[in-house]
Amino acid sequence: MVVGELLAQAQAWLRAAGIDEARREAEILLAACLGWERSRVTAYPEHVLTERQQRCFECWVRRRIRREPIPYITRRAWFYGLELAVGRGVLIPRPETEVLVELFLEWAATQKFDAPILIDAGVGSGAIAIACLQHAPLWSGVGVDRSGRALQIARINRRRWGLEARLFLIRGEWLSALRPRVAHAVVSNPPYVLPDEWDTLPPEVARYEPKLALVVSSEDPLRPYRHIALGARQVLTPSGMLAFETSPRLAPLLAEQLPRWGFKNPQVRRDYSNRERVLYAYLE
Ligand SMILES: C[S@@+](CC[C@H](N)C(=O)[O-])C[C@H]1O[C@@H](n2cnc3c(N)ncnc32)[C@H](O)[C@@H]1O
Repeated sequence: MVVGELLAQAQAWLRAAGIDEARREAEILLAACLGWERSRVTAYPEHVLTERQQRCFECWVRRRIRREPIPYITRRAWFYGLELAVGRGVLIPRPETEVLVELFLEWAATQKFDAPILIDAGVGSGAIAIACLQHAPLWSGVGVDRSGRALQIARINRRRWGLEARLFLIRGEWLSALRPRVAHAVVSNPPYVLPDEWDTLPPEVARYEPKLALVVSSEDPLRPYRHIALGARQVLTPSGMLAFETSPRLAPLLAEQLPRWGFKNPQVRRDYSNRERVLYAYLE
């Protein structure tokens, strides 16, 4: 079959499965399958696929019909303009997390540290640390995660972006393995979805993304934040910054607790949908 026919067929299947942007998604899947830019699949509707390419595309469309997220199917995601490898078992980086990167970069540009170090607690695919280091060339970083699978993917991304010498990846529980006073900034997007929110999430998230990377307990939802903040109090140098991604629901609770954990004057940054998304504060 040719590109145009396959796209029309996939669009119909995806639409019947309730996928809103069926045409766009069909184009993305076909382009990734062929290793092309998306614009090329619309420009060459008469291009004939090999049998193997056609089988790959149909398999990917079937996976998408079962609501598997596109980045898990194509094994790549975009974050802060960077293409990253992703895969099952690691969180797909989200656009709202870019707010945390922007905040770090704005602040880092005003600092005059000698050989500054950034820690990304819960590094996942490496998205935050890699985006920060790409745009702050004087900084080095340490990414910590307890998931071996996440670190495997983070290593692939570190190599892809040539950061082997500047980003160290370690397996551990938040900041417990780090020495005191080594870092100038700690950033983190820890789990913050409450159990009652889990069932309201789209099937793409609830069926496929790692629950342990997302969900906190309803009894103690700030637990990851508390562990990281108390660890950050030890590892940060004076006037170091701590910045968290959070949800609008947890943001006020977190703002209230940060001073009790040793961080003064917490401030909020909103995401592109005007929701309270990032909280940051400085070591007292
Ligand atoms: C919400 S994901 C964020 C991943 C990535 N930073 C991003 O923004 O795409 C949270 C990450 O924290 C890690 N994590 C959860 N509990 C942890 C713990 N106790 N110690 C270290 N990492 C942990 C998970 O494995 C997951 O990769």
